[in-house]
Amino acid sequence: MLTSEMIRPDGELARRSDREVEHFGPARAVVSESGWTIIEGRHGSLRVQWIYEDIVRITGAASAEALAGTLPVYAALLPDESCSNRISIEETEDRILLHGGGNWTLQVNKSDLSFVLTDAAGHPAMNLHRYYSGEGHLQCRGEMTPGAQIYGLGETTGYLDKRGERYTMWNSDVYSPHVADMESLYQSIPVLIHHHLGKAYALFVDNPGQIQFDMRKERDKYRIDLETGLLDGYFVAGPALKDVVQRYTLLTGRMELPPLWAIGYQQSRYSYMTQQEVLELARTFRAKGIPCDAIYLDIHYMEDFKVFTFDPVRFPDPKGMIAELKEMGIRVVPIVDPGVKMDARFPVYVEGLEKGYFCRKEDGSVFQGEVWPGISVFPDFSDPEAAKWWGEQHRVYAEMGIAGIWNDMNEPSVFACETHTMDLDVLHQNDGRPISHEAWHNMYGLAMSKATHEGMKRLLSGERPFVLTRSGYAGIQRFAAVWTGDNRSYWEHMAMFMPMGMNLGFSGVAFCGSDIGGFEHSTSGELLARWMQMGVFSPLCRNHSAYKTLYQEPWRFGSEVEEICRKYIRLRYRLLPYLYAYFREASLTGLPIMRSLALEYPEDRETYQLSDQFLLGQDFLIAPIYRPSTAHRAVYLPEGNWYDYWTGERHEGGKHILVHAPLDTLPLFVRGGAIVPETVEAQHTATAGWQNLTLYYYVRGDDGEPGSSEFTLYEDDGASDRYKQGEYNELRCFAEETKISLRLGYEELHRGYDHPRENLRFVVKHLPREPQDVGGLQRYESLEALEDGVAGWWYDHERRELILKIHEAQRWECAIVK
Ligand code: GLC
Repeated sequence: MLTSEMIRPDGELARRSDREVEHFGPARAVVSESGWTIIEGRHGSLRVQWIYEDIVRITGAASAEALAGTLPVYAALLPDESCSNRISIEETEDRILLHGGGNWTLQVNKSDLSFVLTDAAGHPAMNLHRYYSGEGHLQCRGEMTPGAQIYGLGETTGYLDKRGERYTMWNSDVYSPHVADMESLYQSIPVLIHHHLGKAYALFVDNPGQIQFDMRKERDKYRIDLETGLLDGYFVAGPALKDVVQRYTLLTGRMELPPLWAIGYQQSRYSYMTQQEVLELARTFRAKGIPCDAIYLDIHYMEDFKVFTFDPVRFPDPKGMIAELKEMGIRVVPIVDPGVKMDARFPVYVEGLEKGYFCRKEDGSVFQGEVWPGISVFPDFSDPEAAKWWGEQHRVYAEMGIAGIWNDMNEPSVFACETHTMDLDVLHQNDGRPISHEAWHNMYGLAMSKATHEGMKRLLSGERPFVLTRSGYAGIQRFAAVWTGDNRSYWEHMAMFMPMGMNLGFSGVAFCGSDIGGFEHSTSGELLARWMQMGVFSPLCRNHSAYKTLYQEPWRFGSEVEEICRKYIRLRYRLLPYLYAYFREASLTGLPIMRSLALEYPEDRETYQLSDQFLLGQDFLIAPIYRPSTAHRAVYLPEGNWYDYWTGERHEGGKHILVHAPLDTLPLFVRGGAIVPETVEAQHTATAGWQNLTLYYYVRGDDGEPGSSEFTLYEDDGASDRYKQGEYNELRCFAEETKISLRLGYEELHRGYDHPRENLRFVVKHLPREPQDVGGLQRYESLEALEDGVAGWWYDHERRELILKIHEAQRWECAIVK
């Protein structure tokens, strides 16, 4: 515990940001190579490389020599260097102008080597930046426009806008309660997005050593201080926030489509202790009709916490258990930590040691540290051979039918030592370019998940793997989903996940979630119910709790809470076609699934710091209740019309409303103009070729507000990688509304996956009157008649819904006369 001693008058340590630094200028020479240009200055040099049309890499170092040749790259995915755009150079009396692609010009001031990117008309695409060096370190300062917001920066505490905050990129196992003072958590994603009135750019610093981002010290500047390595800045032009996220993920990669089961509800606990307990748990889910797709095995499944083993007493027949669970539609996800127990009888240790796969210190000795199994050694994932070997160890799991792996403690966390991680002088092999742990630290977790993901892919022969990780670095989305570590069963921590998840989304991590119900501290029924309401709308939906806390499965707090959990988990399963389409989009574009309202409404100032509401895709607005004994809250609805999902009440947007939401109600709104596909609820996921599909169109308003909408439904087997060979379907659904008519339809954009569906339904919701004509189709007198009929429509006066049943074909279109 910390005491006031921390703030003794004589106790303050010199802060990094007080270092003596000097800007790089003045310019002395400009040297061009085939793919880059180096501008040499008195105190430092810049190397400029045009990576893509809209992404310029500006690397800073104290000397030009450090910038020669091929520079290290950690997360960035670069096209072949020889493909780098050629740079043309112009000099004026006080500036050097570089053109490398598209419309952009980089203007570098000769006096101090500060720079800005401008478009063809000379308008800046980013603010002025200046690099500094001093005391062996590098620093960058960028101007912050008054009134601008800072988004991104990965997994951080606090609110949506990071202006006024300070974070240190240094992956840390933070068991202490996560509060605003925690400047480091498990993930480090050094991408800062500057946003001002709908115009944005990003700066990504590709350096896995310690970096501090300070948006506090100076009111109009952010400062980025590096401890080690080069200042390798990638400037990503916008102007739209969506452009920035798409381009940043072009640079650092996008996720592969996960298996559908990983998008279902997942149940975890530290730990389900025995095979019997796990099977009982699964049966209870089924008996209670609560959907569930995965059960996690925490550390107690292992023998003496040795990775890749099962405890023979607690789990005598893991293969049988896994098979039985699979029959019930439940997958098993075991935890795998990087620490390998030092035990001369443990083959993984013996083999890894023999082959030299564990991390070594500068003096050649193997680094040892304490974690769950006692004294352990740690694979050096920077060595491709060691990584491959680690991947291969997962064969025991794959052969048992396991496709999901949970990576934890991979900051790496090390007990009983001052740094709480590996010694900083450990020398990672780094594929022949040795690098100290100090300079590589933030890559460790990512490299572990990469080895796991790639290993599982090799072992699963075509089945999609799922990896969940606690630690990561920029680009982690390519290999794993992320959960936000050891939160607590505090209302504040439930609320904190919203801005954290939204900023992870801005930082390229679309597949993320928090421990629903809270990990440490014991939850209450009320908190679990409210957290579940929010959690079913987060991309990863996992309930997890700590050792010795109250059990928090959906039924542990009485029938009312159980019923609430059931209702919301079932809702998630109905919405799987909608969710899955956004997973597909994230895999193609990098856009997040859980979204800040600012991403969709960047011109609307009300959205800029909105930290307690979020969007799922474009059409669902979620505004959870995150206080105890609270049944009301203010909700901001952006422009357009919004429908209360439960009551159907329509609200005009562009204002706040007060919503009444007793415990069983999550304030949930659907955008007028949305097309939302739903399937029927099920106990677990199966294929993503939705057998039963209804497309809901929410009219824009009673008065026939004109507009057109689109939604692309995506379908495949939900399990294999055959979609990569074209085995998927894409259905573009559309709706065009005028005052007097509504044109509804769909067309197949791609058909490569066969599913047995013959009919689908379109439901027009909130249509005020029975239409005069529905594309000449047959009108039925009742829903039952329509169900029995072949194709046609029925209008439900009470619910104000038009229900259309149609034969599925390649394309279909229907004009409705209102
Ligand atoms: C760490 C993880 C937590 C897990 C526990 C035991 O604290 O963050 O999720 O349950 O270790 O493995």
